Amino acid sequence: MQIVPLGFEHLRQVLDLGYRVFDVTAKPYTSWSLTTVAEHLDTRDSSCWVALEGDTVVGFVLGSMEFELREDWAYLEWIAVDPDHQGKGIARRLVDTCCESLFAAGASRVVTDVEGSNTASATLMQRSGFAPAVTVTLFVRPNPSAPPSEEVLTGLPKRPLIRSGRLVGENRLPNM
Ligand SMILES: CC(C)(COP(=O)(O)OP(=O)(O)OC[C@H]1O[C@@H](n2cnc3c(N)ncnc32)[C@H](O)[C@@H]1OP(=O)(O)O)[C@@H](O)C(=O)NCCC(=O)NCCS
Repeated sequence: MQIVPLGFEHLRQVLDLGYRVFDVTAKPYTSWSLTTVAEHLDTRDSSCWVALEGDTVVGFVLGSMEFELREDWAYLEWIAVDPDHQGKGIARRLVDTCCESLFAAGASRVVTDVEGSNTASATLMQRSGFAPAVTVTLFVRPNPSAPPSEEVLTGLPKRPLIRSGRLVGENRLPNM
């Protein structure tokens, strides 16, 4: 197994693996799409890597030097390992490779966020040197006139082609 930079030739496999393993309803303000991956490839100083067995992508990590308005903070946003290859330390290697390149690019910190019930991801990050910093709880107030629905937390994203909030999206200026 080798870890190499994400290239265009890996896009299809990365996208498919993400669709298989990410539960995007867990954090309803995020979405997984080709745009998500492409934005990382398009972003200056991104740190995106794939774990390869032969030509097969068995894991990936997507990081960038973009975290909100902090110039010196980097963001490790997406990581996944194929279920058939989990538990072998692949994610640890991906996290280390990603962080090392972000630190080399000038990051003073790498930030990641983990949904509360994702024990695998929380353990991975803690074993990789991340420590819990800020806890944010997503409080939701439903519209009392709307029919009762689970969709507040499980509906499809409204803007599937724009990853809301992180790099470039509505009401945000692109990086100059
Ligand atoms: C999270 C994920 C990437 C971990 O991949 P992995 O290759 O199995 O992780 P590793 O083998 O490198 O394990 C890293 C550490 O986490 C621990 N760990 C992994 N899976 C675990 C689980 N299900 N429960 C508890 N701990 C777990 C390992 O024991 C290891 O700790 P150690 O070094 O002390 O032994 C993988 O479970 C995954 O793809 N999950 C779905 C996608 C996801 O939720 N990504 C995060 C949000 S973007």
